Amino acid sequence: MITKVLMVCLGNICRSPLAEGILQSKVDTNSVFVDSAGTGGYHIGNPPDPRSIAVARKYGIDISKQRCRQFSVKDFDAFDIIYVMDKSNYTNVIAKAKTQTAISKVKLLLGEIDGAIKEVPDPYYDQQDGFEHVFHLIDSACEVITNKLNARQ
Ligand code: 4NP
Repeated sequence: MITKVLMVCLGNICRSPLAEGILQSKVDTNSVFVDSAGTGGYHIGNPPDPRSIAVARKYGIDISKQRCRQFSVKDFDAFDIIYVMDKSNYTNVIAKAKTQTAISKVKLLLGEIDGAIKEVPDPYYDQQDGFEHVFHLIDSACEVITNKLNARQ
């Protein structure tokens, strides 16, 4: 059985494309499907932000072929787990949920790790080092998620 994981942020050009690429790079893609989406619709059809593409490439991950799409209510049925990057993403996603099952699928990505930082900060207005920080936060959480997914099979 394939486990389907959706990574969600606001724009789907900075954080969630990184989360998609990082998790995809760690899991067996025959048993885990990873996608990403944004709650906002500002960048639909666009590739990820060049700074996200650059930091991913630095660590050997190519996210340049991803294209931005908007989160849809259908994603609650299409995915098993929906990871959001911050609490405002959580509020925006939950607002579209119609069932308790749908709500129960939505989790903060950094809830998977024990650190003090609970939200992946939006790096959109940062310099490149903001993207480096975000990469490592997401990478730590994806390591834990991968171990959990492997234990499940
Ligand atoms: P993301 O960052 O949610 O990590 O993709 C953002 C990208 C673009 C915008 C906001 C956040 N924007 O307002 O255009």
